[in-house]
Amino acid sequence: MYEYTDIHLKDRNTFGIDAVARRLLEIEPGDSIPTVEGDFFVLGAGSDVVFVDDYAGTVVTLADRQVVTVDDNLVTAWGGMRMDALVQWCIDHGLYGLENLSAIPGTVGAGAVQNVGAYGVEAKDVIERVEAYDLRECCLRTLSNADCRFGYRHSLFKELPGRYLVLRVAFRLRTVFVPNLSYKALANLPHATAAELRQAIADLRWQKLPRPEEHGSAGSFFKNPVVTETVYLALREQFPDMPEAHASEGGYKLSAGWLIDRAGWKGRTQGGAGVWPTNALVLYNTGGCTGSDVVALARAIQQDVLDKFQIPLTPEAIII
Ligand code: EPU
Repeated sequence: MYEYTDIHLKDRNTFGIDAVARRLLEIEPGDSIPTVEGDFFVLGAGSDVVFVDDYAGTVVTLADRQVVTVDDNLVTAWGGMRMDALVQWCIDHGLYGLENLSAIPGTVGAGAVQNVGAYGVEAKDVIERVEAYDLRECCLRTLSNADCRFGYRHSLFKELPGRYLVLRVAFRLRTVFVPNLSYKALANLPHATAAELRQAIADLRWQKLPRPEEHGSAGSFFKNPVVTETVYLALREQFPDMPEAHASEGGYKLSAGWLIDRAGWKGRTQGGAGVWPTNALVLYNTGGCTGSDVVALARAIQQDVLDKFQIPLTPEAIII
């Protein structure tokens, strides 16, 4: 385990915001988990977080190490490993089911916490179980998929922030490749190999999202709001150009990107933060942006979307 004090977090969050943490503990696979006194939070790859201030407590993070074990078609990966590295590892070893999560910048552990999803697959579709350290009871727990209470960008770990440190995630994969082409733009790839599908997903992603090495961002900044059928139908009548939504998970999932775009925000900037020119759901760092710039822009968007559509938007990114 490594311990740092007064550490700059600029390279530890994909927005590239500079903030200083009083203390940071970086845990290696095999380390015993320390008892953390005082305020703390668990940081993954920093791809879903905005630092508004310096942090006076302890940041707990898992080192980025490729530790993977396989038992038949059950693949267990270290929580600090990058999700994208795991996707590549699985394809290389003839294990399939994660391809659609290619190019996601977060960690394996955050994948379970956030139930990350993209292009027709959510982490919960392939997670068999999660091994997490219970920071309250100071013991290791194994949680089944059902125990994790997964929902859209939701899990037990989000319900109880600070309670669990996700150490390992076990994924039930397949040895036979069957492409998941449920996302519309993939429909023309029925003969793709897993590697080709992975490439197509990455290409699609970089058409819609800023490349992390060029512009800081946290991917989608807001969650897609889920509304009742009555609300959805009323909006469709008022805005016939609104993308069609389908009933799922207890409601109709609207496209927050469309709402923000339709409200006129695409390409606008405010302070050091901006709305990505080809995807209004993404806020990005136009250069030297602070967490307050991002939050101010996000608040202005939330208020405008509320005024225009009476729909409240909830950030997917965590504000610290
Ligand atoms: N749209 C617009 N204008 C925009 C952006 C989107 O009209 O500026 C419309 C699109 O044309 C489309 C609809 O909104 O009809 C949905 O867009 P898209 O398919 O790109 O998906 P999304 O809802 O914007 C979600 C996830 C992404 C994931 C994609 C693909 C959330 C919050 N975001 O985005 O996840 O990659 O679907 O599956 O659910 C992330 O969570 O960070 C993330 C990138």
